[in-house]
Amino acid sequence: MDTSKMVKLCKLEFNSPVPLYIQIANYITDMIIQGNLPPKSKLPPERELAALLAVSRTTAINVYRQLEKQGLVETKAGSGTYVAASQTTQPNTVRIPWSQLFNPYIQTSMSSILKDMIAAPSSGECISLAAGKPDPAHYPLDIFQQLYATVDIHTAATDFGYIATEGYMPLRCAIKDLMLEQNIITEPENTIVLSGSQQGLYLLSKILLEPGDYAIVESPTYIGALQIFQAAGARLLKVPVSSPLDLNLIKDYLIRYRPKLFYIIPTFQNPTGRCLSWQERRDLLELAARYRLIIIEDDPYGHLYYDNQPPQPLKTADQYGNVLYIGTFSKMLFPGLRTGWLIAPTEVIQRLALEKQYIDLHSNNLAQILIYRYLQYNYLPDHLTKIRKIYKQRRDTMAQALNHYCRELLHFSLPQGGFYFWCTLQSEHSSHLLLHEAVTKGITFVPGEAFYQAPAPTNQFRLCFATHEEELLVEGIKRLAMVIKHSLNKKSKTVYPAGSSIPII
Ligand SMILES: Cc1ncc(COP(=O)(O)O)c(C=O)c1O
Repeated sequence: MDTSKMVKLCKLEFNSPVPLYIQIANYITDMIIQGNLPPKSKLPPERELAALLAVSRTTAINVYRQLEKQGLVETKAGSGTYVAASQTTQPNTVRIPWSQLFNPYIQTSMSSILKDMIAAPSSGECISLAAGKPDPAHYPLDIFQQLYATVDIHTAATDFGYIATEGYMPLRCAIKDLMLEQNIITEPENTIVLSGSQQGLYLLSKILLEPGDYAIVESPTYIGALQIFQAAGARLLKVPVSSPLDLNLIKDYLIRYRPKLFYIIPTFQNPTGRCLSWQERRDLLELAARYRLIIIEDDPYGHLYYDNQPPQPLKTADQYGNVLYIGTFSKMLFPGLRTGWLIAPTEVIQRLALEKQYIDLHSNNLAQILIYRYLQYNYLPDHLTKIRKIYKQRRDTMAQALNHYCRELLHFSLPQGGFYFWCTLQSEHSSHLLLHEAVTKGITFVPGEAFYQAPAPTNQFRLCFATHEEELLVEGIKRLAMVIKHSLNKKSKTVYPAGSSIPII
């Protein structure tokens, strides 16, 4: 049996939303299930597979990774890839071809990056500057434990049953007060409690976006938002993160494409750290009001400033109700609470609640009750003062280390708040390839491509300074400098063919 001939018969749809490697993997899966490729058959080597189907080598590599994950093939070092032998022992096993049954969905090599990043355990060996996490050592767990110990004394048993989809009313009232401190005047009826701000982005995409709709996003921007809008089938119009914000470009988009919404992180943007001035905010609001543009203001980092207090949120000056504000306790307290909130006109809140009930009926009551108590006893201001001081020192330490060890290698600007340094390599090196080497040297970061809809510059990356103590940050930057220098010294650079997907790591 000539496996190469068989594989060559695979018909690829180059315009399909299903990635090529999935199409090929599905085809080979069928051949295996139908017995056309018996157990232990040798499959074409990756290079040959790529040539047979006129796809990139990376696609071929991803085909075999996918099949390996499904347990359908085995790779033997130095010998090649084979149909898994275990098939022989279960000749009658019916395998459900799950990947063929799923609705079409977008999957790229970056699809699981967020999931992988947050799931990655921290190990003593590897210093992860990738995930955007506060430092667990400074989660206010002692206070939450005290609050937990007395929760039943203060709380009616019914509050532990099903509650309103919009959230625990005392917490919604407390959020109203919290918002007032930022000069956002709102009412509990205009607030919905979310299972993390990520859920707010998802719900908004569900109620506002249809496939083919235009949405404006900053470029680069938060991976989670990009993925949600792409999954909704939105066509993304990109506004570069620049100073000042390019209002002419936004206006041009508004006239030409009538986009549904503009997703923006005005304060300490993820990943760049950029913070819009008050004037830029006013100008944007004026433009948005003129064109009835909905603005999604995502604000996880507004409380985490290290120099001056940032300008007030866009929502404070929203006269037309077109700003939908999303906040979260993930960065100022801790992400495991999975509690965020969204402020919007009542009509929008009601529609969101309808959509939210399909997903989870309501967010977890216990977390809501604990956060409510935490806010009620006014623990938040002291906690914020404490962590601002700690993160400011970490930011300064990382900046010094970058200046010291990486001066000739990259440039960055000092973030005034938030969690991240956004770095651009001086050379045209790919940060994604660099990451492969970095992992082996015990340091990780997020390659810049993750924050763009392709095409993306390849020589940028994001470092999180919040999670680790200063000593580890310095060690991490030392390792980073070593990795960059080493890769610069390598004579031959590995170059992936244009348009190819990046290997999943
Ligand atoms: C800009 C931005 N929005 C939303 C989120 C999601 O946060 P949450 O934990 O509240 O879902 C993050 C997390 O990193 C973020 O950076």
